[in-house]
This record gives sequence, C-alpha cells and structure tokens, in this order.
Amino acid sequence: IQHPFGASLDGLNCRDHCVPQFLSRLVVQRRPEPTALMQALVDHVMVHLDSALEQERFKPLGLATGRTMEPFYGTLVQRLSAWPASRLAQLKRRWLSFNLDEYVGLPSADEHSFASYMHAQLGRHLELAPPQLCLPDGGADDPAEEARRYAAAVQEAGGIGLQLLGLGGNGHVGFNEPPSPAGCGCRVVTLQRATRIQNAGAFGGDPDQVPERAITLGLDEILAADEIHLIVTGAAKAEILRTALLDPCSAEVPASWLQQHPRVHLWVDDAASAHLPLLS
Ligand code: GLP
Repeated sequence: IQHPFGASLDGLNCRDHCVPQFLSRLVVQRRPEPTALMQALVDHVMVHLDSALEQERFKPLGLATGRTMEPFYGTLVQRLSAWPASRLAQLKRRWLSFNLDEYVGLPSADEHSFASYMHAQLGRHLELAPPQLCLPDGGADDPAEEARRYAAAVQEAGGIGLQLLGLGGNGHVGFNEPPSPAGCGCRVVTLQRATRIQNAGAFGGDPDQVPERAITLGLDEILAADEIHLIVTGAAKAEILRTALLDPCSAEVPASWLQQHPRVHLWVDDAASAHLPLLS
C-alpha cells in the first residue's frame, strides 16, 4: 500500500492496524512555508464557500483560533474582498459558523476572549452579526449549561460542514485536553498548565492570567463534521503531529482520534512535517 507521505507502509512501523487505512485516505497538502500553505488552504475554502452559496442550506463552518490561524483569516478576508459585491453580500447574509472553544470567565467583549479574536480577524471585516459567528459564551453564569446550549445549537444547525482545526502542543484539538476519549461532547474542561503556558502570549506572557477553564466542542461534534482540515505549522509541532497521525488512537493524544474520520485533510509546512516519512 502507498500512503500519502509517499513511503511504503511496511517501513512505517505502524502499531495499530487502523493507521494504514487512515493514511491511505488522508489528503496531504504540504508547502515549504506557512504563507504558501495558507494561500492553498484559502483557495480550498473559497471553492467550498462558492459551492456552499449554491446550496439551499448553508452548512455551518467550524472555526479555530490560535496563532496558526491568523494568516489564514487575513488571507481569506483579502481574497473575499475581490469577490463581486453581490456575491460577497450574499455570503455575508448567509454566513454561519461555530468556533471550537472559548475561555470560561471571559465575556465576549473581553479583549482576550476568542470572541474578540474572531471579531478582529474576521467578523468586523465581513460585518458578521454575533448570531452568525457563534462561540460559546465565556461570560455565562453557568458554564456547564452554556456548553449544553452550545452543543444543542450546533446540532440544531445540522452539525458542522467544513471544520478547521489547529493542533495544540500537547495534542489537543479545540480545547480537548489529554486525556479526552473519542466520545466526549461539548463540555467545560480544565486547561493543562502546558496549554496555559502555550497561550500566555495573548495574556501579556503570564500563564497565570490565562483562564483555568474553557468550554470546548468535543471530539463527538468534531468527528461528526463532513470534512476536517488539520492545519499545522512550525517545527515545535512536528513530533506531536507524528504521534497523532502514526501512533494508535489514544485519549492521551486527542488529535489521534481524527484517524477515525473518513475525510481528513492535513495542511502542513515543511517544518511541521519534518518527522513524517515524506518523499524527499
Ligand atoms: C489553542 C486553541 C486551539 C488551537 C491550538 C493551537 O489553544 N484552543 O483551537 O488550534 O491551541 O494554537 P496555536 O495555533 O496558537 O499554536
């Protein structure tokens, strides 16, 4: 069998028989640098949006935050501004997206909330109303109830169509921290110290300022998406990416559950794919 990294699977030392099947259907897009990678990803999303507008119902997009995604939103906004005005107006009217997660204790107006991030990166450029650019409400009095409400809203909207995903340094997707079983749903989670350190940059560099809890869509909602796009850049994530894709699925590496999804696209730069057995 040939897998998308180009090498024979015999040489891969797979310890789980489901890994080869996953690799044989995984679609890999690799570019030397993040800039070229984001251009390619935006090309794909633009085609998706164009065809979504032809459908009677606009299937919600699943959106991610994080530093990795910033150039994606910048490029997307730039490219959409070149659309004919009437087409862009149609998109603005019909847009519906659900973000993966939000910090507990940060209302949407808080400058550190993911809601503020999304407004700055995307919402204000496309003039999206809050009910179109959905995130869990981090300021809710009862976060567990808010997680239930958010899960129901995703369900009510028919689930996610195209899901964008980043990868945490500890293997998290959304804020599904290790350990996260495959069946976990939208819920309140406690963030690992490693995650609070990783995200401290947005909080003046102080991990203690990063909230201790978050509301996140679970693997259940993520794996129910029609197609998943995992976007990974930089050498720091090369080893966790290798583990997630090539080792057996495990709650200790939540991203490894993506192996169970039929349509995963991996978008990587050279640095992040350094530990994958790619064709030279
Ligand atoms: C964050 C978010 C994830 C994101 C990941 C990677 O904490 N909860 O949705 O994909 O961690 O972040 P970054 O791109 O900044 O490395």
